[in-house]
Amino acid sequence: MGLKILGINGSLTSPPSRTRVVLDVALAGARAYDSSVETDVLELRDFNLDFCDGRPYDSYNADTQRALAMVEAADAYLVATPVYRASYTGALKNFFDLVPNDPNGRDPLRGKVVGLLATAGSDHHYLVLEHELRPLFGFFGAHTLARTIYGSSKDFNVQKQAEGKLVEELTQLGQEVVILSQLLKERPDNFQPAHLRIRRD
Ligand SMILES: Cc1cc2nc3c(=O)[nH]c(=O)nc-3n(C[C@H](O)[C@H](O)[C@H](O)COP(=O)(O)O)c2cc1C
Repeated sequence: MGLKILGINGSLTSPPSRTRVVLDVALAGARAYDSSVETDVLELRDFNLDFCDGRPYDSYNADTQRALAMVEAADAYLVATPVYRASYTGALKNFFDLVPNDPNGRDPLRGKVVGLLATAGSDHHYLVLEHELRPLFGFFGAHTLARTIYGSSKDFNVQKQAEGKLVEELTQLGQEVVILSQLLKERPDNFQPAHLRIRRD
């Protein structure tokens, strides 16, 4: 069975969302590189997600369980967010607050590859990718790709389609998710980052 890549869209904007556009181009790049790759997109706006409040996982509503099941079924991820107030969206933050990281149980992101993408109105906040999104996935023990993608207004046309160099870079990011995931699959035991809690024991 092919590698399953899940795109996660942190934008709640009605279509067309620029963030969804960049996700779709990168996912197409992954499929073009390896035709056995399967892709899906988790649109947070389509789920009636609970707010995370620390309750037991089985007490969250059905939509929350369904979204978490999509994360657990995937082998790799492309995570995309619009920049809101110089950060990633609150919706994305709430979603990743819901994703478990139990060292003795559900820990779906550990050892998996994540590609990071952001769209924004301006160029000012490109470091959101390095200073906020990358540490989030470090927390989960995921392998984030060195290449990140930041598309601002000038990279999109009036129909909100990605243009020029951005398309090339997105295609490359999609390929890199596949290449690194396949390499890590060959040596899974050597590439499971330790859990932070275990490291502190
Ligand atoms: C509430 C809100 C806050 C925003 N904050 C920023 C910001 O801090 N910096 C920036 O460059 N763009 C900001 N923007 C612009 C969006 O990041 C940009 O339009 C993005 O591409 C929208 O993506 P979408 O079409 O997928 O929703 C903001 C937009 C909104 C609606």
